[in-house]
Amino acid sequence: MLKTVVLLLIAVETDTYSVKLRGNATQSSVFEYYRADQAIDGIKYALGVASFCTHSRKQMNPWWRLDLLDNYHIRTVTITNRADCCPERLNNAEIRIGNSLENNSNNNPIVRWIIRASHSYSCPDMEGRYVNIVIPGDGRILTVCEVEVYRAPTRCPRWENIAIKGKAVQSSTFYFQAKNAIDNFDPTCTHTKNEMNPWWRLDLVDLQIIREVIVTNRMDCCFEQINGAEIRIGNSLENNGNNNPVCAVISGIPAGKSVSYSCGGMQGRYVNVVITGDSKNLSLCEVRVNGNGNF
Ligand SMILES: *[C@@H]1O[C@H](CO)[C@@H](O)[C@H](O)[C@H]1NC(C)=O
Ligand SMILES: *[C@@H]1O[C@H](CO)[C@@H](O)[C@H](O)[C@H]1NC(C)=O
Ligand SMILES: *[C@@H]1O[C@H](CO)[C@@H](O)[C@H](O)[C@H]1NC(C)=O
Repeated sequence: MLKTVVLLLIAVETDTYSVKLRGNATQSSVFEYYRADQAIDGIKYALGVASFCTHSRKQMNPWWRLDLLDNYHIRTVTITNRADCCPERLNNAEIRIGNSLENNSNNNPIVRWIIRASHSYSCPDMEGRYVNIVIPGDGRILTVCEVEVYRAPTRCPRWENIAIKGKAVQSSTFYFQAKNAIDNFDPTCTHTKNEMNPWWRLDLVDLQIIREVIVTNRMDCCFEQINGAEIRIGNSLENNGNNNPVCAVISGIPAGKSVSYSCGGMQGRYVNVVITGDSKNLSLCEVRVNGNGNF
């Protein structure tokens, strides 16, 4: 039985993008005869024997690295796990892509592509010379049977404001509706009632990769009301979405101005802005969400 665990499978629709990249493989340590290059030998798995796979010793933070010898945009990474036993050893493995050799390349940016089969990402916006697989932790063993890395198109589609395609709601409405923050028109704003923990929530309808959130403040008055508001991103509606991970805390935005908060590729369906505390007003004039709307 051939069991391919595709951690990241992006259906490649056209051959243009499916150029497989070659390189030199190394790993943190070698157990017996399971060399690093056995993950790029074109043989995914043979007859229940993991002889075409890699195998590190049991160690702290084992890693495997592919050196592509040049900087590339990378569209797809597929990993074939071993099938004879213990596939769970790959649990919590990270894929890192970048140009640094610092910490054996394990400090390069982490790949945050959403793991979802049968979906196509036009461009995950990752590039680099080194592709690492690393399992953080002590007493871990890294085995991979095949790692395939494919090229991205040379030009990635731009990140776009995906907020305008979403639906906005807020905890309460004081004349000015939640949708005014996603109309791509700065002068119209939202306004909650004066209440405890007012929030505004954007539903992007599907999981999205979010690069940054840009918030535009009101300019007529009370621009300091936004101070301390949290931007949260995630998939949970628990506590109205306000328990999702924090991307940023707004320390202040000048009247009528916009400030960008980098969310480093966080994933989620919901983007919340919430002010915690008693007797608060939440008023937003525009919330732009730069995300990858390509899948
Ligand atoms: C890549 O591997 C080949 C074959 O083992 C070796 O000759 C070459 O020096 C390596 N290149 C780099 C940059 O490590
Ligand atoms: C090196 O990488 C490992 C594995 O990801 C990580 O646990 C460790 O903190 C990193 N070390 C440094 C000094 O960044
Ligand atoms: C909240 O907004 C209302 C209406 O704009 C205003 O009258 C009130 O002073 C504001 N409260 C605070 C605490 O800013």
